Amino acid sequence: MAIDLRSDTVTQPCAEMRRVMAAAPVGDDVIDVDPTVAELQERIADRLGKEAAIFMPSGTMTNQVAVRLHCQRGDEFLCEYGCHIFTYEQAAFASMSGVSPHPLVGRAGNLTVEQLQAARRPDNEHAARTRLVCLEHTHNRAGGKLLDWEHVLKIAAWCREQDLRLHLDGARLFNAAVASGRSLRDLAEPFDTVSVCFSKGLGAPVGSALAGSRADIAQARRHRKAFGGGMRQAGILAAAALFALEHRYDRLAEDHANAAWLATEIHQLPGLRIVDPHPERLVDTNIVLFEIDPSLGTAAELAAKLADHGVRCFPFSATSIRFVTHLHISRPDVEQVAQVLRGLSSPIAR
Ligand SMILES: Cc1ncc(COP(=O)(O)O)c(C=O)c1O
Repeated sequence: MAIDLRSDTVTQPCAEMRRVMAAAPVGDDVIDVDPTVAELQERIADRLGKEAAIFMPSGTMTNQVAVRLHCQRGDEFLCEYGCHIFTYEQAAFASMSGVSPHPLVGRAGNLTVEQLQAARRPDNEHAARTRLVCLEHTHNRAGGKLLDWEHVLKIAAWCREQDLRLHLDGARLFNAAVASGRSLRDLAEPFDTVSVCFSKGLGAPVGSALAGSRADIAQARRHRKAFGGGMRQAGILAAAALFALEHRYDRLAEDHANAAWLATEIHQLPGLRIVDPHPERLVDTNIVLFEIDPSLGTAAELAAKLADHGVRCFPFSATSIRFVTHLHISRPDVEQVAQVLRGLSSPIAR
């Protein structure tokens, strides 16, 4: 069987998860309430230290509902250039909410208050109204990096002072919590709204949640319906997310250890180099992003060769590849990947 490192979203629900899904009490969550969805919403709001949360089908929807919630038509939001909201969500903030992005190039996913301060528009009739800042933790395109916590706290204080809202795309916030040793509550505290995905490292088949104040989440429920995200007997899906939260959270450390092991091997190979490593560690979480010397071909060519050897992955740019470790990736799997890469990079060593 292929070793699938394309994403942590490729996991299959296990027999026990499927059993829990089949047995979940359900109701019509649009007409009134689905009890299992309600339980998940309460549980995740509590874990994130927020008043309320709302279940949605995807991380894209939670992010886009958050933009709609915080901004009016003609407003803009500040974000990091490589973030998912700006890069991978089809500019839905523009097409669906009439909001424009103002992306800034960060360092390893981080923005600074100085950058934000310089980008914030003046309050006059010529300018779009800057209304929102979006951060991403961990930062996917930066290679699953933890954000610099001092920067986050400074940005949050600045947003409060400037009367700007602050949203976190926490699709991989569970990874950030396990890797940093900070609680989910601490990581969520500086933000007005936080989105998390159960369908990534935790291995649920579907689902995300947006958490925030009771008033914001009541409004988000209206937007979710307009975006087509009102789901009826969704307790079947929420049950999988509850199972994942309970049984899969602590094991994320294994994914991080496998990613770190693989990154160490890759970094030693001729022609391959981990992108932008931290001085004390090559990778922070479950994403291994590496740059390829042109003598080994393009990223697409190397990915095709890896596929021939049973290793699936995505080229991340013309010259880089991303590996993501997850529930179905074991230590022997990453050892095999390292061995394949050793073989493919050896011509350069000769
Ligand atoms: C950082 C980040 N945010 C949001 C999303 C969107 O999640 P979904 O695929 O559930 O829409 C992803 C998906 O990979 C992601 O990596």
